[in-house]
Amino acid sequence: MDMSAHRPVFILGIETSCDETAAAVLKDGRELLSQSIASQVATHQKYGGVVPEIASREHSSHLPSVVERTLREAQVGFCDLAAIAVTYGPGLVGPLLVGVAGAKAMAYAAGIPLIGVNHLEGHIYANFLAQPAIPFPFLALLVSGGHTNFVYFEGHGAYRVIGRTRDDAAGEALDKVARALGLGYPGGPLIQELARSGDPKSFELPRAMLEPGSLDFSFSGMKSAVLNILNTAAMRGEQLDQADLAAAFQQAVIEVLVRKTLVALEQTGAKTLLLAGGVAANDLLRETLALELAQRGISFYYPPPALCTDNGAMIATAGYYHYRRGNFAPWTLNAVPGLQLS
Ligand code: KG4
Ligand code: ZN
Repeated sequence: MDMSAHRPVFILGIETSCDETAAAVLKDGRELLSQSIASQVATHQKYGGVVPEIASREHSSHLPSVVERTLREAQVGFCDLAAIAVTYGPGLVGPLLVGVAGAKAMAYAAGIPLIGVNHLEGHIYANFLAQPAIPFPFLALLVSGGHTNFVYFEGHGAYRVIGRTRDDAAGEALDKVARALGLGYPGGPLIQELARSGDPKSFELPRAMLEPGSLDFSFSGMKSAVLNILNTAAMRGEQLDQADLAAAFQQAVIEVLVRKTLVALEQTGAKTLLLAGGVAANDLLRETLALELAQRGISFYYPPPALCTDNGAMIATAGYYHYRRGNFAPWTLNAVPGLQLS
């Protein structure tokens, strides 16, 4: 903590990269004063996925009231804020632009700095909200709807990506299989629920480990295997046990994630793992990792489920660490839909 700062540091975080309009007020990087989320899940559910144009419009109509409510609940005014942190990528360009333009206007009018936050960094920083004293270096496993990465952190803002998916992200594969099973969107939580009553051993699915020692992922093969099983059954007019298939697929995804994590820990020598991203909300993934890591003396951190999926608190937390480094964005900050972690 920077003890020289007598005034509390209030950061407003804003997140609009996909289908949640979210904001949060964070005090001194560790105290979440308030947060609100206007979810568009119900709107997009009938299309089976996020419709970008509709998402942009919903963000525009919800952002002002979400921010107002968040500040009111925190009992913090614009003039009390130290900075406004906003997601500027990666994500959908229209939704990102709504957040970036809104944050810019608010920060400029309040005369306070603007901070641009990489959404993926935000996911990982959700861990620092619960546990500000996480020791460096650590390995992060980021598993979201759009990304599956291993990120090696040496310090705040000092990180490199050491593994990535070559095709589908883990969450994307779960969402696609859920859609094929007719479960709806988003698929991860629905598969998790259905899998509870299924037997993961009832279907044999491939586990793509790639070349020995590779820290990259490939989930499209196991996803296609499920789609083939479903198509074959439909052609033959056979009934499948959907819970069994959901359980087998979830098991296959988790097994690859866990086995690769153990390889990545061994290669980097890291003694600490941080789990992050929407798929990090998955019970079985958390439990399996916890078991394997405890056996190896590796410290394991993961955020509470509500902070795994997209939220404003994670953006405010990442923003706080940028603030401490004086890392502010210019007024020309733009949305970068394909922003990478680098
Ligand atoms: O991080 P996130 O909220 O948005 C992105 O940045 O992509 O992640 C959303 C992804 C979706 O694919 C969703 O199906 C998955 O996270 N997800 C889950 C669970 N909750 C959300 N996957 C497995 N189990 C869950 N409980
Ligand atoms: Zn996300």
